[in-house]
Amino acid sequence: MPHIKPRQIVIDTDPGIDDAIGILLALASSEFSIAGITTVAGNIGIDTTTRNAGRLLAFAGRNDIPVFKGAAAPLSRPGPEPLNLHGKEGIGGVDLPAPARQPEGRSAVEWLTEFLLNEPAGTIDIFALGPLTNIARLILDNPEAAKRIGRIITMGGVIYEAGNVGPRSEFNLWADPEAADVVVSSGLPLVLVPLDVTRRVRATREFTAALSASGKPLASMVADLIGSYFETSTHQESRPLHDPCVMLFALAPELFRMEDLRLSVSTGPTGEAGALIIGETGAPVQVATGVDGPAALDLLARTLASS
Ligand code: RIB
Ligand code: CA
Repeated sequence: MPHIKPRQIVIDTDPGIDDAIGILLALASSEFSIAGITTVAGNIGIDTTTRNAGRLLAFAGRNDIPVFKGAAAPLSRPGPEPLNLHGKEGIGGVDLPAPARQPEGRSAVEWLTEFLLNEPAGTIDIFALGPLTNIARLILDNPEAAKRIGRIITMGGVIYEAGNVGPRSEFNLWADPEAADVVVSSGLPLVLVPLDVTRRVRATREFTAALSASGKPLASMVADLIGSYFETSTHQESRPLHDPCVMLFALAPELFRMEDLRLSVSTGPTGEAGALIIGETGAPVQVATGVDGPAALDLLARTLASS
């Protein structure tokens, strides 16, 4: 079997419990080479999301991967209040070490710009797990770098179901709708993984117990992270794994049903901010609208257990 060169990726993230699971999944996957992690405020403030990225890398023994601090607030609106859902320190209070390495001196957008200009065009994918502020700023300030992105795979939005922060609004797009509008309307190769599918990749207590029983460090840590999700959301039989679906799509797109939709983003008042509008005037986006949930969970467990 010829050795397939790992795909170079950048993870833009607001860890966050489900972000943390996605990051650990990417670290466990030989298919990805993580060039860097860029952080954004979202689930919690920028200092905590940045520290949590460093803590996850320290836990995984991957201090070779640099962390770059990004936007502390949306492009033009006040940022969201920290979400209690993600518990103490924004990462469920699980036992993670302190970062072994400080964030780099360059900002997320400064580094992304230099990195994209120096790498062959089309060879870098961005996995976006939080509000899209950093990527929008890159597109606005350095379009010649942005157009060298291979593709952006982002967890965000909702198509046919209700939102999780408003009738039609999902948190990542709602938190910075102007940024989401810049990214969606940019015409860059964009894959959207919305709540319509991430709500169907649900970890149960049994799934979590099986991860713990594997005895593998990354799998056990993911079990602890999911366990903390249960603590912050009582009486739930299962918890959706939103952000890991980005990595799962990249690993096994055949598990997802895709639709080519033309989308635009509402930048209206808070109640509808971030809502996605389907219409001919929108930009073309590849949207995941279905998933084989059990198969996706099985892939997550197998990948973590193999690390
Ligand atoms: O709506 C789910 C998204 O909002 C996830 O990225 C989660 O981490 C939160 O940021
Ligand atoms: Ca997130």
